[in-house]
Amino acid sequence: MVNTTIMKKLIIENGPPLSGFVRVSGSKNAALPIMAASLAASGQIKIQNVPQLSDIFVMQSILDNLGADTSYNKIAEEMDILPNSALVTGSPKMELANRIRASFLVAGPLLSRFGQFKTALPGGCAIGTRPVDLHLKGFAALGADITLNQGYVEARADGLRGAEIYLDYPSVGATENLIMAAVLAEGITALGNCAMEPEVTDLCRFLITLGADISGIGTDTIIINGVKELVGGTYRIIPDRIEAGTFMTAACMKPGSDVTITNTENTHLRPVIAKLREMGANIIEPTPDSLRVYTTGRLNAVDVKTLPYPGFPTDMQAQLMALLAASTGRGVMTETVFENRYMHAAEMTRMGAQIKIDSRTAIIDGVTPLSGASVKATDLRAGAALVIAALGAKGTTEIIDIHHLERGYSGLDEKLRELGARVTTSVQ
Ligand code: EPZ
Repeated sequence: MVNTTIMKKLIIENGPPLSGFVRVSGSKNAALPIMAASLAASGQIKIQNVPQLSDIFVMQSILDNLGADTSYNKIAEEMDILPNSALVTGSPKMELANRIRASFLVAGPLLSRFGQFKTALPGGCAIGTRPVDLHLKGFAALGADITLNQGYVEARADGLRGAEIYLDYPSVGATENLIMAAVLAEGITALGNCAMEPEVTDLCRFLITLGADISGIGTDTIIINGVKELVGGTYRIIPDRIEAGTFMTAACMKPGSDVTITNTENTHLRPVIAKLREMGANIIEPTPDSLRVYTTGRLNAVDVKTLPYPGFPTDMQAQLMALLAASTGRGVMTETVFENRYMHAAEMTRMGAQIKIDSRTAIIDGVTPLSGASVKATDLRAGAALVIAALGAKGTTEIIDIHHLERGYSGLDEKLRELGARVTTSVQ
C-alpha cells in the first residue's frame, strides 16, 4: 500500500513572549489503557474528554479489528465503544499493533474476558528496548500459559486466578495490564511495587465505574478482588499533565511571557511546578484546574532526575532540557526511566545548545539565545522539546517529521499561535 501520509514540517520564527490562555486536552496516556480496558466490559461504554490524537485513532482501529463497535465524536471529544461478545479475533492485526506500543494494553482485557490473546511483541522504539517481561510474568502468575514465537506472544487461560505479584519495577504498562487481567479473575490479586502515575489511578476509577472491586488506588500496592463481569458505563478522562507541563515550559522560554493554562489537574503537576519554580518561574494557581506561568527574566539552571511518579516525569525530560539549554548556568540531568531518551540532544546542539551526554547523564550549559536551524523530531516528546527550543531561538527553525508530535499533541500549532507564537505548518 502506498504510504499516503503527507510528511509535514513546522516552521517557527523568533516571536514575542507568549501570552494568553490555552486549554489542555484529555490525557493520551489515560485514554489508551481505558479504551483497551473497555474490551473486558459487556456493556456500552462512553469515554469523555478523549483527545484527537493519531495514537487514539490507532487504538480505535485495533478495537474495531478485534470486533468491537466504536465511534468517535470530534465535537464532543467522546469515544463510544460496544465491545461485542463475539470477539472477531483475539489478536490485533500486526501492522496495527506495531504502530503503537500501547497496543499491548489489549492483552490484559482480552485474557481476562476471553481467556486468550495473541499479539505482536511490541518492538522497541527510539527511547529504548521497552520489553514486556513484567507484563508476561504477571500474566503467568495469574494462571496464563504464555508462548512466544515468530515475534508474537500468545496467552491462554481457562480462568485466571488471583495471585500475589510484586513488580521488579513500577512499570506503568505492566501495572495497567495486570490490573485489567485481575479484575475478572477468581479471587484476590495483590499487586506490589505498582506504578502510581495518575493515569493508572484513572484506569482504576474507570474500572470501578464498570463494577470492578479495586482498593489501594494511588498507592504502590493495589488489591483487586475479581468480579463476575464488568457492565457498561460513562467516564471522563483526566487532563493531560504532560501537555500542560509542555505549555508551562514553553511559557518559560522567553522573559515577559504570561500564559494561563486551563483544564489542568494541578495535583498531577507538583514535580513540574516545583522544578520550574526552582528555576525562577512564577507559577500561581488561580483555581485547582488552572495555572498561570509568567517570567520576568532568564531562568537559572537546576539539576533534575527523572523518576516514577510522584518524581519528575520522564515524559517532561526533553522539554526541560530545551529550557535548561537556554537558561543561565549548568544543569545536570539524569534519566533513570529509559536507557536511550536523549535523542533530542543532538538536534538541540544543531541550534547551538551546549549539551554533553554520558550514558544516562546529560550536562547542559545554558546558551542565550539559541539559533534557529533545520532539525528533526525523533520521538513524541523530543519533537515537543524542539518546538520549545525554537520558541526561544533567534531566527527561523524548521522541524521535520512532526507526525511524532501529532501522536501526543492535539492542535499544537494552533494552540501556540493563539499564544502569539509565529508557527506555521507546511509539507516537508
Ligand atoms: C508509559 O509507557 C507511557 N506510555 C510512556 O509515555 C511513559 O514514558 C512511561 O509510561 C513512563 O512513565 C503510555 O502510558 C501509553 P513503563 P510504558 O512500562 O508503560 C521498563 C509518552 O511520551 N520495563 O513504565 O511502556 C521499560 O523498559 C510515552 O507519552 C521493563 O523492563 O512505560 C522502561 O525502561 C513515552 N519491563 C521502564 O520500565 C517491562 O515489562 C518504564 O517503562 C515493562 C517496562
